[in-house]
Amino acid sequence: MKILAINGSHRRGRNTAKMLETVLEEARSLGAETELLELSDYNIKPCRACNHCLRVIECSIQDDDIKLITDKMLAADAIVLGSPVYISNVTGLMKNFMDRTRWLHMCRNTLHGKVGAAVTHAGLRNGGQELTQIIMERYLASHGMIVVDSRDQEGRIYNHGPMGTLFERLEDGRVIWKKDVEEDSLALHECRTLGRNIVRQLQLLKAARQEV
Ligand SMILES: Cc1cc2nc3c(=O)[nH]c(=O)nc-3n(C[C@H](O)[C@H](O)[C@H](O)COP(=O)(O)O)c2cc1C
Repeated sequence: MKILAINGSHRRGRNTAKMLETVLEEARSLGAETELLELSDYNIKPCRACNHCLRVIECSIQDDDIKLITDKMLAADAIVLGSPVYISNVTGLMKNFMDRTRWLHMCRNTLHGKVGAAVTHAGLRNGGQELTQIIMERYLASHGMIVVDSRDQEGRIYNHGPMGTLFERLEDGRVIWKKDVEEDSLALHECRTLGRNIVRQLQLLKAARQEV
C-alpha cells in the first residue's frame, strides 16, 4: 500500500507540506508506505502543447525531471495532491505539473483505479481553498482516480476536505493570524481523517479485487 503525496507549494516544508505529512503520518500508522515529494525540488519545463501525447503514451519533453515524478505516480496506489492557494487557484508549480502529466491519460488512462485526494492551505479564511480543492480533485477524477475526502466514518462533516487557513479571529477590527497550520486544529483533524479514509478505500479495493 504505497501513498505518494505531491506538494505544489513554492516553499518546501511549510503549511501545505505539514498538512500532507499529517495525512501520511496517519496512513503510516495503519501500515501504509509513504513518500512526500516537493515539486519545488524538481525541474519541470512547461508543456509546449505539441500534442505528441495524443498519439503516444509519453511526453515529448525528455530532458527534465517529470519522468522521475510520473514513475512514482505509476508505482503508487494512492496520490495526494497539496497546493497553497495562489490567487484563488493552485500554484504555478502545481498547474505546470498537471499540464505535463497530460500524457498519463490521453491514449490510455494509466492512473485509472488509483485512489486520489487533495489538501489546500491559504492565508485568508475564505481565500479560495474550496476552488483550489475542486481543481485538484477534478484533475484526479479526470485521470480515472477514485477521489476520497475527509468525511469521517461516523458521517460527521466539518469541511469539504482538508482546507487550512492562517486566519484566527478578529479582535477590535484587527486580524489575529495563526502562526502556522500547527495551530489549525480543524485542518489537521481533517488531514488525519483523510489519511484513514485513503487507507480504508485501498483496503476495500484490495478486497474487491481479490473477490473478482
Ligand atoms: C503569489 C501568492 C498568491 C496568494 N494568493 C492567495 C489567495 O488568493 N488567497 C489566500 O487566502 N492566500 C493567498 N496566498 C497566501 C498563501 O496561500 C498562504 O501563505 C499559504 O499558507 C502558503 O502555503 P505554504 O506555507 O505551504 O507555502 C498567496 C500567496 C502567494 C505567494
